[in-house]
Amino acid sequence: MLQTFKESDQFTLPYAFYRNADVLVEENRKVFARAWQFVGHVSQLQQAGQFITCEVAGEPIIVVRGDDGELRAFYNVCPHRATQLESQEDGKKKILQCTYHGWTFKLNGQLHQAPNFKQSPESFCEGDTCLRGIRVETEASLVFVNLDENAQSLKEANGEFFDDLSQFAFLSRLQKYSSEKRTIKANWKAYIDNYLECDHCAIAHPVFASTFDLKNYLFIDKQNCIIQTASVKPSAKLGDVPLDEVEVQKGRYYWLWPNMIFSVSPGPGNIALTVLTPLDENTTIANYFYYFVNQEPTPEQQENINFVEQLRREDIKLVEKAQIGFRSQAFERGRYSPTEHALRRFHRMIQGALEA
Ligand code: FES
Ligand SMILES: [Fe+2]
Repeated sequence: MLQTFKESDQFTLPYAFYRNADVLVEENRKVFARAWQFVGHVSQLQQAGQFITCEVAGEPIIVVRGDDGELRAFYNVCPHRATQLESQEDGKKKILQCTYHGWTFKLNGQLHQAPNFKQSPESFCEGDTCLRGIRVETEASLVFVNLDENAQSLKEANGEFFDDLSQFAFLSRLQKYSSEKRTIKANWKAYIDNYLECDHCAIAHPVFASTFDLKNYLFIDKQNCIIQTASVKPSAKLGDVPLDEVEVQKGRYYWLWPNMIFSVSPGPGNIALTVLTPLDENTTIANYFYYFVNQEPTPEQQENINFVEQLRREDIKLVEKAQIGFRSQAFERGRYSPTEHALRRFHRMIQGALEA
């Protein structure tokens, strides 16, 4: 039987939300600047001086392990005259140096040397001459940052996500295998919309549809998170290893508010991650990461990478076509199908955040 919705629940977000620069300004302020954002796995930040850079709400951020073993996060901005401090995505340094006038900073963010000033570092390193810190927390070996000093802790904000993820004993053993950035010609929400419904799966993803049992495809609502789970059809094959011998038997796919996707696929321990960074209202950088328990992918994992890549290509085409329609004056908004409830929840969360 078709569900009946309240009038206001029938319609999607207005398409203006997908093409309006002012909406993105508000999203940066009220959504991205208040949410916990994935940065990396602790294995990438084990030794003193190991760092990762990223962007949150348009802000350049650096996370670095100190000589004292503490993990810290800072705006990746030089206090002298605003220059981006570290431009590599990740690496290891004894000291952080600005390439403009050579100011150097200790791994705890304190000014070390300011060659174009004559004061000694000790007398000079106070107030806004040190790197400006932001919050960084780790759960389940995954490192997140938050620009909001008053935000709930990572565990409080995303507890149900971490509780569910804790069924995977391999998380602490993961290591980064690869990362890649891709430019998507669509608003970041179009990508999440696509991820949060599988009405399109049978039409747009023929290989996915022949591998997974779509009749028993589930969406599970959690705090700040929606989990999708699907069983592999008995007739489908995942490499040469029998399914009951691998670490993950059932795919489990997490959307985490607002812009993160964590996919655990059947096979040896693995997570494929997508973090969406809006470049502007019509363009999104998709940051893709693969983490495996082994250094190199097994043939089954390589097969899975190819499988995920194919899905991504199919989805990117769809969201880029959706963006063409969002910019059109033909319609002001869309309509939810009875099974697009996860999509509806995402849209209500966006509206709630923007109205707050
Ligand atoms: S802007 Fe960084 S040292 Fe001048
Ligand atoms: Fe899809």
